[in-house]
Amino acid sequence: MSDGAAGQFLCRSDELAERGRGVVFDLLLWRQPARGFALRIDGRAVAYVNRCAHVPTELDWNPGDFLDAERRTIVCAVHGAQYSPASGHCLGGPCGRNGLIVIDVHESDGQVYWYPSRDIAPIEFDDGPEATSTEPCAP
Ligand code: FES
Repeated sequence: MSDGAAGQFLCRSDELAERGRGVVFDLLLWRQPARGFALRIDGRAVAYVNRCAHVPTELDWNPGDFLDAERRTIVCAVHGAQYSPASGHCLGGPCGRNGLIVIDVHESDGQVYWYPSRDIAPIEFDDGPEATSTEPCAP
């Protein structure tokens, strides 16, 4: 876990099937909106920023589809870079030596939490002025 940062609820544990579809979630990467995704690999929950190391674009073929047909590697839908689903390391293709950005996750009591880091933060929800106003609408 990262720097004592508070865990952020990601999903229920039973939403992550072994080598199944990923659970996608919003976050801030270097203060910019981005997405992360979680998978279950060999029984363990893992999560990465949904951003290819080749060109900074999202990886999934369809929302939540990150793995190849044999469910062995994460494959980028754009140019086919392959990543280890257990570590995020590049296994082949145009990602070169670069891997996916790892997000720390922890499972507890049937729930999966992710942990912010120096580069990755939760989205802050702004209720906006209309949500806090107690003034009635003008006729
Ligand atoms: S953008 Fe992912 S392999 Fe090129």
